[in-house]
Amino acid sequence: MCGIVGYVGQRPALELLLGGLERLEYRGYDSAGVALLGGDGSAVRVRSVGGIAALRDALVRHPDAEALRVSTTGIGHTRWATHGRVSEGNAHPLSDETGRVQIVLNGIVENHDALRALLVAEGARFASDTDAEVVAHLVARRLDEGGLADAVRASLRLLAGHFAFVAATPDEPGTLVGTRRACPLVIGQGTDEPERYLGSALVGLPGELAGAHAIEDDEIVVLDPLSARVLDARGRPVTPRRLALGARQLRAERTEHESFTLAEIAEQPSALRRTLRAAPAGPGLDELPWVSLCAARRLTIVACGTSYHAGLAGRYLLERWAGLRVEVDIASEWRYRDPSIAAGDLVLGITQSGETADTIGALRMAGERGAHVLALTNVPGSQVTREAGAVLLTDAGTEVGVAATKTFVTQVALLAALARQLGAARGVLGDAQAERLDDQLQRLPAVVAAARAAAELPIARAAERWSHEPFFLFLGRHAGLPVALEGALKLKEIAYIPSDAYAAGEMKHGPIALLGEGTPVVVVATESPVLDKLRSNVAEVKARGAHVLAIATEGAAGVIADEADELVLVPATDPLLSPIPAVVPLQLLAHQIACARGLDPDRPRNLAKTVTVE
Ligand code: AGP
Repeated sequence: MCGIVGYVGQRPALELLLGGLERLEYRGYDSAGVALLGGDGSAVRVRSVGGIAALRDALVRHPDAEALRVSTTGIGHTRWATHGRVSEGNAHPLSDETGRVQIVLNGIVENHDALRALLVAEGARFASDTDAEVVAHLVARRLDEGGLADAVRASLRLLAGHFAFVAATPDEPGTLVGTRRACPLVIGQGTDEPERYLGSALVGLPGELAGAHAIEDDEIVVLDPLSARVLDARGRPVTPRRLALGARQLRAERTEHESFTLAEIAEQPSALRRTLRAAPAGPGLDELPWVSLCAARRLTIVACGTSYHAGLAGRYLLERWAGLRVEVDIASEWRYRDPSIAAGDLVLGITQSGETADTIGALRMAGERGAHVLALTNVPGSQVTREAGAVLLTDAGTEVGVAATKTFVTQVALLAALARQLGAARGVLGDAQAERLDDQLQRLPAVVAAARAAAELPIARAAERWSHEPFFLFLGRHAGLPVALEGALKLKEIAYIPSDAYAAGEMKHGPIALLGEGTPVVVVATESPVLDKLRSNVAEVKARGAHVLAIATEGAAGVIADEADELVLVPATDPLLSPIPAVVPLQLLAHQIACARGLDPDRPRNLAKTVTVE
């Protein structure tokens, strides 16, 4: 995902910008760059393909290294190529042909082709394939009319799409101008006054902050060391929304772990503890539209990827504990199929990043049709929190690994806390049941820690044996099915092994043809009304010669054990909570296989942490 950082103040900007870009590195990018303004009316731009380390090398070798080092105003960017290949020429900042305007841009300007054609007809010359360069030309052409802020505002009117960008010009050293539409842009005030930051994410603003604010769609911020003036589309001043600095979640440290992903798997008990600290009320639950929730018969959950799997696991909890009819859908499908949603319906979007374009698009559509829109996210102040009427917050901390791990378990745990709370309010759960579930929720961190400890050795052995396998099948039923889906996603994502996940009862309808002697099959067995049926499904798999690794909860192990070649025991919890500990061995399996194959589990190829592009 692309990242933006800007600084204006009295300190040398370069290290601060690089520090900010490094904080955004975990989101994924393929090139990076900075532009710094000199006091002499010059701008120096340095870009490179690859990591920030490559950019640092290019900066050291640059003929203007000294000017770069002393400049106190600059912008920086990490680019995740979507339009135009990965190259230094397409890396940001982009400028017009004179270099008067430097632009860093996230998102997509959808009408950039048409605008480019008009500019070319006027004589503009382009050096890249990017929409950012189009914006640089537009702003540069309007610069003489009223300065940078007016030029940005006039250009913004011409743009279609979803984007955030920051512009700088050596004509106005000590000033940055930013704007956004549907992509985030935040302002930070440093502690070392006078100084100001701009960035695409709070977590990417370097150094200590004394305060932070959000900019809304089509607003413009004019930043100088002493002030951040926010103006609406007509140029009228507006008061920006203050952001809680707690939202600036720091990322986990790798410490003794092989990777951030492994550190984050290990950190799951504390992520759960933080998220459930106020259980059963849970953070954010108090602000929900209780009247609508208590009266509702139906809830629609929309999400993508791992968050979708969390929604599937949550369905069992919300149906059983809260007595709601729950539908779970993939956001990128749901929003385009004219779903039956009407005023008063409840729609919950789950997105750990809070920025996933399809989930946000789905919620926006639900809101336009009069539904009550709820969001469950890990990032306070993220885009989804602006789309939703009420927000449920997990407190997993920043997840650096591209593979979602600790955010998944906290999402399911928070859905469980919601289901428990709603169940009591709707009279579905009696006092004794509610108390038992509270106890189970409180014990989750310990259960997850024990699940990891129990899984480490058998999973290390399985990873060693299976690291060269060309295909894996994951099976599950009932609450074990979302876990199987998640296990297959993890293996594809970080170990690059083709894998499929199926409801075990569907095996006989086709997929069983995939099995042969020794095919690795991972079965997730949890206590459920269909556990005996799962056992029969596993027997069919065994009869085809497959090698079965069972991930079984204590209550299910007795039923499944003699059909499995190997068993990983998952400590007991309520059967509907079991996806939380049961996913841990599968996260470890994907991680260990990735490492055994010499891959970097933190940064899978072709994947960014956050998917903001539709
Ligand atoms: C999972 O490991 C992935 N990184 C991916 O599937 C992710 O869950 C998906 O892109 C949704 O992200 P979100 O939760 O930030 O919306």
